Amino acid sequence: MIVAVDGTSASGKGTLAAKLAQHFNLEPLDTGLLYRAVALSMITVGDNLEDQEKAANHAASLDYKSMDSPRLRNSDIGVASSKIAAFKSVRLILLDFQQKFAKNPPNGRSGTILDGRDIATVVCPEADSKIFVTANIEIRAKRRWKQLIQSDEPAIYARVLEDLRERDTRDSTRQNAPLRKDGDAITIDTSHLDAEQTFEMARKYIASRDLNRQRS
Ligand code: DC
Repeated sequence: MIVAVDGTSASGKGTLAAKLAQHFNLEPLDTGLLYRAVALSMITVGDNLEDQEKAANHAASLDYKSMDSPRLRNSDIGVASSKIAAFKSVRLILLDFQQKFAKNPPNGRSGTILDGRDIATVVCPEADSKIFVTANIEIRAKRRWKQLIQSDEPAIYARVLEDLRERDTRDSTRQNAPLRKDGDAITIDTSHLDAEQTFEMARKYIASRDLNRQRS
């Protein structure tokens, strides 16, 4: 089974994917981390984020096994990753890894779950279940702001809101694989749902899709 979870920044899609992975015994891949790792690698050596050729070189030499640096989650890396994610050559390199990952769950797993922006539309159009997660931008900004404060990263609400707006615009208006809801996906608006309620909606949807799949 392949589950695709797409959505806007700070919509709760990462938390949802992690809970679904555990419940359905799926191997998870947070694809945003791949773009973040490319951006971090460029920033570390002082490369210009506007340089597509250099970005592609960093993507090609990415070490997929070292995606655990806490720095990857910082908001400056989030903004930087959204810039290099617009480059076609970077997306093509990362696409290959994501598609192989999706189709090859490790032994003992019932499938894979990938979360990102273009999973249902580009990476896994054949996914068995497709979920699009979003929420009101002010609510997302408030959640992200709280997370940053709790993790001791200094943050100003108005700045967090502005960053999210900028990323939403860049992610959904870029030419290559823009963020958009696939025609077959269900939408979950988490504005007024907590993590457990969001999970319950998605769990029921995936279970019903799986039942149909087994019957046909
Ligand atoms: O989900 P995230 O905030 O960690 O993603 C970081 C950036 O990476 C996001 O602004 C857009 C990009 N991204 C993408 O273009 N495609 C994906 N499948 C995942 C992330």
